[in-house]
Amino acid sequence: MKRTALPWVRLLPAAALLLTGCHPGHRQSALHTAAEASGEIARLWWAMFIVLTASFVLVMALTWIAIRRRPRTDDSPTTTVGWQNRFVILGGIAFPTAVLTWMLLDSLGTSRALRQPPEGLRIEVVGYQWWWDVRYPEHDLAIANEIYLPVGEPVVIELSSADVIHSFWVPNLHGKVDMLPEFPTRIVLRADRPGRWRGQCAEFCGRQHAWMAFEVVALPREEFDAWLAERAAARAALAADTPPANDAIARGRDVFFRESCHTCHPVHGTPADSLIGPDLTHLGTRLTLGAGRIANTDEALARWIADPQGLKPGNLMPDTPLADADLADLVAYLRSLR
Ligand code: CUA
Repeated sequence: MKRTALPWVRLLPAAALLLTGCHPGHRQSALHTAAEASGEIARLWWAMFIVLTASFVLVMALTWIAIRRRPRTDDSPTTTVGWQNRFVILGGIAFPTAVLTWMLLDSLGTSRALRQPPEGLRIEVVGYQWWWDVRYPEHDLAIANEIYLPVGEPVVIELSSADVIHSFWVPNLHGKVDMLPEFPTRIVLRADRPGRWRGQCAEFCGRQHAWMAFEVVALPREEFDAWLAERAAARAALAADTPPANDAIARGRDVFFRESCHTCHPVHGTPADSLIGPDLTHLGTRLTLGAGRIANTDEALARWIADPQGLKPGNLMPDTPLADADLADLVAYLRSLR
């Protein structure tokens, strides 16, 4: 039978699989950098990629030549032995030693360049199965699954875990750092330009590891200050027990306490002060729900409350069956928390 398909056609599925790593806008990419640190890492990556690809091609070419060579017969002249010895010493010892030494030294140099003094705005991030608790201790601010930063300034992210080992990774800005229970670690981020990127837990941590994502938003200093001020004003209004803007929100607040949501979720200035689940004080401004699972809209929030196990099986939040009117009121209340 005649073969019609070219051998390389069989590689197409593998190539297609590689393409799935591309993300529109490169929001989660170590090769589209927005910081000096990630730029250093990308430079090292490209250098290794080029040198190692060249080495691989060279080795494959030599293997091909060796396979195609005529086998030596007993009466072949042995005058080439000296040349062969030199080839083995250069190609088999000197070349790999040089490449491996360069890789080691360049990696050490890069690690050194990444080390930053822990000075700047402090943010505490604690990993949970499967979400991120984010606190700005100097601003009495608690959010979840997103980190806002001022552009061009170092920001010290103090990392820890409440349960298993997680790993903090914003590839556009920096490398990975493990988050360990009872052993604090840290990373210093500095975004060189405004933008929004996707962070991801980079250590397998259980069933919903893949949906342990977060958003990083870098804002120019004035916008960052305005963002802090808006959150502070919202908390002040909650603490002063300002009457809700409409009846639906007032009824929704009653549903929140009646259905025991407060036994897991804190809301600033209310009796809800448990620390089991994500802080909901600013839930209305949250970009996503379920740590990156779905965008935060009225419909998505209603779906999340009714069926968190359907959207993210295994997470700690139980399904909450509610009458349609109660669910709509609860959504109105939670989305009013800004
Ligand atoms: Cu947390 Cu994987």
